Amino acid sequence: MPAPDPAQTVLDTVLDMFSLENRNDPYPCYHAARELGPLVATPFDVHLVTGHDDCMTVLSDPRWGHGYSAGISPIRPGVVAENIPGSFIRMDPPDHTRLRGLVSKAFTPRAMERLRPLVERTAERAVASALAAAEFDLVADLAATVPITVICELLGVPIEDHPRFDTWVRALARGLDPDPLLVEDELRGREIAAAAFSEYFRELVAERRARPGPDLISQLATIDDAGDRLTETELQDICVLLLFGGYETTVHMTGNMVLALGRHPDQLNLLRERPDLIPSAVDELLRFDPPVHFTNRVALQDRHLAGRDFGRGEAVVILVAGANRDPRVFPDPDRLDVTRFAGPTPAPRHLAFGLGIHFCLGAQLARLELEIVLTTLLRHAHAFAVLDPEPTYRETLTIRGLQSLRVRLEGSR
Ligand code: HEM
Repeated sequence: MPAPDPAQTVLDTVLDMFSLENRNDPYPCYHAARELGPLVATPFDVHLVTGHDDCMTVLSDPRWGHGYSAGISPIRPGVVAENIPGSFIRMDPPDHTRLRGLVSKAFTPRAMERLRPLVERTAERAVASALAAAEFDLVADLAATVPITVICELLGVPIEDHPRFDTWVRALARGLDPDPLLVEDELRGREIAAAAFSEYFRELVAERRARPGPDLISQLATIDDAGDRLTETELQDICVLLLFGGYETTVHMTGNMVLALGRHPDQLNLLRERPDLIPSAVDELLRFDPPVHFTNRVALQDRHLAGRDFGRGEAVVILVAGANRDPRVFPDPDRLDVTRFAGPTPAPRHLAFGLGIHFCLGAQLARLELEIVLTTLLRHAHAFAVLDPEPTYRETLTIRGLQSLRVRLEGSR
């Protein structure tokens, strides 16, 4: 048999990783990519960064950025950036510093803690109705309810509008995937969603300017930080970022969390015996199956990485979910171990929330939501039976999550 062509092996590995067929378990593809080397060249004019250390290096170095205002193109490989309202998640300093600085004033630990009773009430209600049903859809009936209620309350967005913006959120999530993988309808859907979202927030912001309330939109609309104010477009884009970031990721993470524990009853039982492990379990679940699988950067200056020189403007994709399974950093990485982050010596960082200047602004809120959902489930249900042997995933690649999952909860005896 002829020896395999190395170039073909690389291509097959990259295509496998982006293939919908591997959505239910992309982790073997990430291992295969890592085994090819620390950097994998792709047909999309971008290198994949496969190892945990190199992913950390890129994320924590602001000389790797987005390059939008510096005129370095493309902002994301294969994506027409102008069509996606990204706000500061796709900016570099000093623009990023300014906008993140203004918004982060509202994301204080105290402000997040104030949301605790709402998160608890919503989780209690969702788990109670899940228990009452013979079976339910984990995604729609449980995973989605907490994040959407919380982010709507925080921003001051009417929850009744959820069905409208749910469609836009989905279209934008698909729109994050590389353009060559999208069909015409999806490209158009992204533009329609972006325009609809901006218009929606234009009206809401005008309303809040006229009648400010206790919510974040009112706060941001009236902010005056030593004369620095947000423009209308900045404010609209921030609202989209927060609604999208606070919703889509957390819904999928809640789904991934329940699925993983449903498949690992030993770990579930351990948590029941040792609820003090819940915070470390949440970290382990974020490591094990995070919702954000890739992110990207371009070199804002010439950089050297993993033995290769990158010129200004060259792009990389950071395999966040693959880095979280790097065996050189996390021993036995494919095993779910809820004690992994509970040892006396701090475990290495997982990258589910990113790192560096773009580290997730909502990480504390997301942890609060995940811990409360888990605590509530453990309190009321003694087992989760996953009824779909092969769960269905959404088609999105960058943000990966379940389409639906039929589950039966068995109440505590
Ligand atoms: C940024 C993941 C929940 C708001 C990020 C990034 C990741 C991430 C990986 C960095 C992206 C990059 O560096 O390119 C997650 C996960 C979540 C979650 C896994 C849930 C489990 C939330 C929530 C909010 C939020 C609840 C808001 C309420 C943001 C914002 C940024 C961000 C505003 C941009 C930060 C910046 O650019 O400075 N998130 N996120 N996220 N996230 Fe989250």
